[in-house]
Amino acid sequence: MNRVSIVVAIAENRAIGQNNKLIYWLPNDLKRFKQLTTGHTIMMGRKTFESLPKGALPNRRNIVISRTTQLNAFEGAECYPSLEKALEAAQSGYIYNNVQSTDVFIIGGASVYQQALPIADRLCLTYIHDTPAEADTFFPEFDPTEWEETFREDHDRDERHAFPYSFVDLCRKHS
Ligand SMILES: NC(=O)c1ccc[n+]([C@@H]2O[C@H](COP(=O)([O-])OP(=O)(O)OC[C@H]3O[C@@H](n4cnc5c(N)ncnc54)[C@H](OP(=O)(O)O)[C@@H]3O)[C@@H](O)[C@H]2O)c1
Repeated sequence: MNRVSIVVAIAENRAIGQNNKLIYWLPNDLKRFKQLTTGHTIMMGRKTFESLPKGALPNRRNIVISRTTQLNAFEGAECYPSLEKALEAAQSGYIYNNVQSTDVFIIGGASVYQQALPIADRLCLTYIHDTPAEADTFFPEFDPTEWEETFREDHDRDERHAFPYSFVDLCRKHS
C-alpha cells in the first residue's frame, strides 16, 4: 500500500481557498510543496487541477479525480472517477531520475481532503497564522489526538511573507 500524505496550507480558521484560488502567496510554502512532491504521485480534485496556473505540475505523476467521461480532459494528467480508483492506479508508482516512488501526495481541494483524511498516513501542513476576511473552502476538522507531530518549523513574517507561518508534519498514531 502506498504511503498517503496530505499537503495543505491552512489558515487559523481552516480556510484553504476562495473563488477556486489559494488565499495566500507564500514563496517558502511553494518551495516546500515542490520539495515534498517532486518525484512522486500527486492527486487532486478536478477544481484544484483547473486552478493550477500552468496546468499539470512537472516531474510528478499528476492524477485528477473527476466524474468526467471526456477522454484526455486534463492535459498532462491521468483521470480516475474516484479516490479509490486513483489510489489503485497509483500503486504502480512513479519513476523519476531512475528512482521508483510509491508515495502519494493528496494536494486538494477540500472535497478530496475530506475523503482522504481517514486513510492518510501523514499531514504536511503549512499553518498560516492569520484568519482571512473571506474564504469559501475549508480543510475538514480532524482530531489532533490521533496524530503525532514529527516535524515543526516556525517562521516569522518577512518582506516576502505577509504572515507568520509554521511547517508542521503530523503522522497518524498507530493504535
Ligand atoms: N490551501 C491549499 O493548500 C489548497 C490546496 C488545494 C486546493 N485549494 C483550494 O481548494 C479549492 C478547491 O476545492 P474544492 O473542494 O472546491 O474542489 P476539488 O476537491 O479540487 O475538486 C472537486 C471536484 O473533484 C471531483 N471529485 C471529488 N471527489 C470525487 C469523487 N469521489 N469521485 C469523482 N470525482 C470527485 C469532482 O469533479 P467533477 O465535477 O469533474 O466530477 C468535484 O467537482 C480551491 O479554492 C483551491 O484553491 C487549497
